[in-house]
Amino acid sequence: MRSKDEVSSKRVAYLAWDRTTRWFHWINLLCVLALVVLGLAILNEKSFGVSADGKILLKTLHVYVGYVFTINLTWRLTWAFVGSSRARWLALLPIGRGYTEALRQYVRGLWQGAPPGYLGHNPLGRLMVTALLLVLATQAVTGLVLAGTDLYKPPFGGIIAEWVTNGDPEKLANLTPGSKDAVDPVAYDEMRSFRKPFVTTHEYSFYTLIVLILVHVAAVVITEIREKNSLVSAMLSGEKTFTEAPIDELEPPDSG
Ligand code: HEM
Repeated sequence: MRSKDEVSSKRVAYLAWDRTTRWFHWINLLCVLALVVLGLAILNEKSFGVSADGKILLKTLHVYVGYVFTINLTWRLTWAFVGSSRARWLALLPIGRGYTEALRQYVRGLWQGAPPGYLGHNPLGRLMVTALLLVLATQAVTGLVLAGTDLYKPPFGGIIAEWVTNGDPEKLANLTPGSKDAVDPVAYDEMRSFRKPFVTTHEYSFYTLIVLILVHVAAVVITEIREKNSLVSAMLSGEKTFTEAPIDELEPPDSG
C-alpha cells in the first residue's frame, strides 16, 4: 500500500514503514538503551561498589526488560514473514535477484555524490539491518540462557534449578539466586562451565552491538543530511519524501 501526497511543488511523500515496524523500532530502542545501561552496571558492579543484593536486583531488572525486548524482537522477526512487503525478509536481507548489482550501483552512486533514492532499505542499509538483527537475536538467546543460569528464571530456570540441586525437593525449595547454600557443588560447577560460553558471547555481542549502533546512527544522520528525504521522521510518520520516484518503488521488493 502506498500513500502519495504532495508535500511541496517538488517533494512527494511515500509510505515507507508500516505501523508494526515503527512500533518495533521505538520499543526496541528503549529496551536496548535500558539493557545497555543495566548491562554496563552489571559489568562494572565492582567499581560501582554494588552489594550482592544490588547485583541480583540489577540482573533481575535487566532480565525483565530483556523479556520485553525478546518478545518485541520475536514479533518483528515473525512480521518479516507475514507483514507488508517493505517489512519482509526480501526487503531486509542482502538476498534476492539483482541485490549484488544494486549494491554496486548504490556504492558507485555514493562515490559520485548522487546515490539512487530507496523507499525501503538501500543495499548498504540491508547489510546493516541484517547485522543488527543477528546481534540482537544473539543477545536475546544468550540472555534467556543467562536468566536461567543466574536467576533461575524462565524459560530455562526450571531445568537449571533441577540440575544444580540434582532434583532434591528440599534444596529446590531453598534455592536462591546468588547463593550456593542449596546447590550440589559438583552439579553447580558443571552448570557454571556450561554457562561460560554464553556469558562470553553475551559480552562480546554487546560490544559488537555498540559499534553497530554507532555506525547505524551515523549512517542515518549522514543520509538524512545528504538526501533530505525525512529518514529520521519517517520512523514516526512512516513517510519518506523524494523529488524523483525512489528506485524500489519502480521495482517493489516482492518482485525479487
Ligand atoms: C540488546 C540486548 C542486550 C544487551 C545490550 C545486554 C547487555 C548485557 C551486558 C553488557 C551484560 C554484562 C556483561 C556480562 O556479565 O556478560 C549483561 C548481562 C546479563 N544479561 Fe544482558 N543484554 C541484552 C539482552 C538480554 C536479555 C534479552 C536477557 C534475558 C532475558 C539478558 C540477561 C542477562 C543476564 C542474566 C546477565 C547477567 C550475566 C552475568 O551474570 O554476567 N540480557 N547483558
